[in-house]
Order: sequence, then C-alpha cells, then structure tokens
Amino acid sequence: MNRQTTTIPPADVERQLACCREVAQLTSQWPQQPLAFVDTYGCQQNEADSERIRGYLREMGFGFTDDEEQARIIVINTCAIREHAEQRVLGNVGALVHVKRRHPEQLICLCGCMMQEPHVAQKIRQSYRHVDLVFGPHALWKFPEMVRDLLQQRGRIFSVADEAGSIAEGIPVVRQDKVKAWVSIMYGCNNFCSYCIVPYVRGRERSRKPEDILAEVRQLAEEGYKDITLLGQNVNSYGKDLPEPMDFADLLRAVNAIPGDFLIRFMTSHPKDATHKLFETMAQCEKVAPVLHLPFQAGNDRILKAMNRRHTRQEYLAKIRDLKALIPDIVLTSDIIVGFPGETTEEFEDTLKVLEEVRFDALFTFIFSPRVGTPAAQMEDSMPREEKLKNFNRLVELQDSISEEKHAAYVGKTVRCLIDGVSDDARYDLTARTPGNRLVRVVGPSQAVGQFRLVKITDSNKWSLYGELAED
Ligand code: 5AD
Ligand code: SF4
Repeated sequence: MNRQTTTIPPADVERQLACCREVAQLTSQWPQQPLAFVDTYGCQQNEADSERIRGYLREMGFGFTDDEEQARIIVINTCAIREHAEQRVLGNVGALVHVKRRHPEQLICLCGCMMQEPHVAQKIRQSYRHVDLVFGPHALWKFPEMVRDLLQQRGRIFSVADEAGSIAEGIPVVRQDKVKAWVSIMYGCNNFCSYCIVPYVRGRERSRKPEDILAEVRQLAEEGYKDITLLGQNVNSYGKDLPEPMDFADLLRAVNAIPGDFLIRFMTSHPKDATHKLFETMAQCEKVAPVLHLPFQAGNDRILKAMNRRHTRQEYLAKIRDLKALIPDIVLTSDIIVGFPGETTEEFEDTLKVLEEVRFDALFTFIFSPRVGTPAAQMEDSMPREEKLKNFNRLVELQDSISEEKHAAYVGKTVRCLIDGVSDDARYDLTARTPGNRLVRVVGPSQAVGQFRLVKITDSNKWSLYGELAED
C-alpha cells in the first residue's frame, strides 16, 4: 500500500489531454455528437469532481444529457458516507442493465468513494457485469486514458488501488452554475473519526499550492462568479503539508484580497482546528460570508471520545462563544449523528442541550450508519432502531422550532442577497441567499439572477424566508 502523497507531473496530465484529443478525433467521425450523462451523489467535493469529469468529456467531444437512454457514456459518481446513499446507487446501477440491453454500445462508468471500498468494487466486478469502468477518486485524473482504452478495445477496467492520494492540476472543468463555484483547496482527511469512511476512500490530507488556488479564484472572479466556496474535508488544517507551511486563515486573507464583488465561503471545518485567528480573520475580511459550518456530531464527552473527535463539549462551546463575540450575526450550522454505538438516550440529551445553547440556524442530522472497515462498525450497538428514531425525531423537532424562530427574526428586515436562481415555487419567481446562506424565495424579474440585490423579507417558515426586491 502506497502511503506517499504525490503530485501528478504536468506532463502526465498533458498526456491525458492528448488522450482526450485522440478520443475527440474518433467521436468527430461518428454520425452524431455523442452525449454523456454524469450523475452525482453525495457532497460538494463529489460535485467538484464531476465538474472535472465533464471537463474531460467535453474535451473528448461529448455533449451532455440528463437522459440515460440518449447517453453513449454514463458516469455515476458515488458516495460512501452512509448505507442509504450506497443502496440508492446500487439500485440505480442495477436498473441500468435494461438501458444497456437497448443500447449495447453504451459505456457505463462508476467512480467516487464507494468504488474505493474493496468489497463494493468486488461486488461490481462479480454481480454488475454491465459496468465497463470502475475507478476511485485517486484515479480520476486518468479518466481520458481509460475511456480511450475502452473505446479501442472493449473489456472492463478497474482502477481502484489503495493510495495516499495525489494532486493533479490543469484538469479542464465544466462548471454547473454561472453564479456559484466550488474550489477544492485540499483533498483527503487525517482525522479518522471512528465512524467515518472518508480517510479510507479519499486518502491523506494534501493541500493544493496557494498560487494554484488563488489563480483559480482570480479567474472565477473575472468570469463574474459571485459566490465561491473553498472546499476540503477539513479546511482548517490546510497548508500543514506544504513545503512552506501556510495556514487556512492566511489563505482566506489572500483570497479576500482578490479584486471583485464576490462572497467567500468554506467548508468543512473541524472544531479542534478552528482557531481564534480564523475567527478574527473571518471578522476582518469583508468578502468572507458570516457563516460557519462547524460539525460537533454529539454533545456528550464519552461519545465524542468514542468517536475520536478530539474535542469536548466545553471546548466546542467555548469556540462558539469566542466566534459570536467577534461576529454577533454569525450564521451557524452543524452535523450531528444520532445513535452512535453505545449512546444512551440520556447521553443523546446532551446533544439537545448544545442545540439550546448554540441555537444553530440549520443542522444536517444523521442516524449512525456502520461503514465496513471503520472502528465504530465493530462497536457494540444495542439500542433498538425505534429508540434511535425517537431520539432523531426529538432532535429534528427541536431544531425546527429554533430554525423557525431564527427565520422569523428576519421578517421586516432588508438584506443584501445574492439572487442565485429561478424558483420552483409558482408564487415566487427567484431564489436568493442571504450572506449567511439562508434560502430566500423572492418575487422579481429573472434578469436579477446573478446579482446582489436588496431583498425585503416579508415572511418565513422553518425552511426558508420569503421576500421582494427592494430598491437599491
Ligand atoms: N453514519 C452517520 N453519519 C455519518 N457521517 C459521517 N459518517 C457517518 C456514519 N457512518 C456524517 C457526519 C459528517 C457528515 C458529512 O456525515 O455527521 O460530518
Ligand atoms: Fe470524516 Fe472526521 Fe474526516 Fe470529517 S473530519 S471527513 S467526519 S474523518
């Protein structure tokens, strides 16, 4: 097993672009432009990876479709974080057998975190024989070469070696949105929280060079992007592995100095690495949105220890107090796991106490899902599912009432929002985001999409805010 992080030499990425040109030569002789369907599960990192897969596909001459019947190539970018996500992927991949029967020339590719799990790759190899290509996040940069080989000689390719991971610069991108963009600043995770599969499938932490990140953000700002999210599994440990170490707060300051009218967001932060210096930097940088996603997972110290989180409840709460003192209107969100092995209902109630003290604006809540190969999957887990569900529902109910109250406090205020899309709600034409990323449904003309506009908030519920454009 190779545990050395590597930077892919530019010449190797260039070789992949040459493969794209070879494929483009081939596809240009086909009677019609071939189409690709790229389907993404899971987190923003996967969305960002899919934008690179689309970038490569465009260079190979493919157009895009959302219809699997029309697709010459189907790519499913999978997520391994919980059982439920995996079951959905396997169900959908299973159903593709019928699609491929109708279109035998179709190439079916699976990638992403699930493919880096040995038992999943094995299952695909044996039981999903209509799948042509399987590769994990480590092999994404070699996608063109694999497609070329499959088009030249049919067969199956599995590229799922276990590695520490690499960094490849210069992969083309097709971005999904014209207003918001993701920028990966680092990959992988070193934390090994005991329930989490990520360090096993995405490898060790490795940081992109600051100059590469800054060049990408500069270009996005020049192209008119208004909302740029810096991505990493644990952004607060950015830069520790660089030849000239640089911390995340310094990177944030450098991104903030790039000219343009845009907001900077970042995720995800680990409480043990979120520092006073970071909070001060957020307070001082006008482009950095006043929002922090700071997962605490559980409110009980015994459970936090069993989760290998390396922070206590008090340490977490002290950080939140520090942050609120510096940025009083900070919008806070978090991730929580209910029903970790051995968590009693009394211990779970410590999680509720944290909610009452912090008053998060929104939460992402999950029931523990055992992941093969993680320490927590081996722990004794005796609480019946009904009791876990009961606790889970108590958590959601409490958060709903807090979200509802927090949203109600916006009513009557006028807030500078980014109009980011067209609404699916017939009464409101547009969707917008407050600087703290709360969803606002807005009445107004579609030309406003992509602009920062003042929005008068007129109504709210536990999910979102409602408003109308106000004069600037
Ligand atoms: N079971 C349930 N939730 C999990 N998460 C990560 N691993 C698991 C698991 N095995 C949640 C954590 C993490 C978020 C991205 O997903 O809350 O912060
Ligand atoms: Fe998983 Fe913990 Fe790393 Fe987050 S910090 S990706 S929960 S191991």
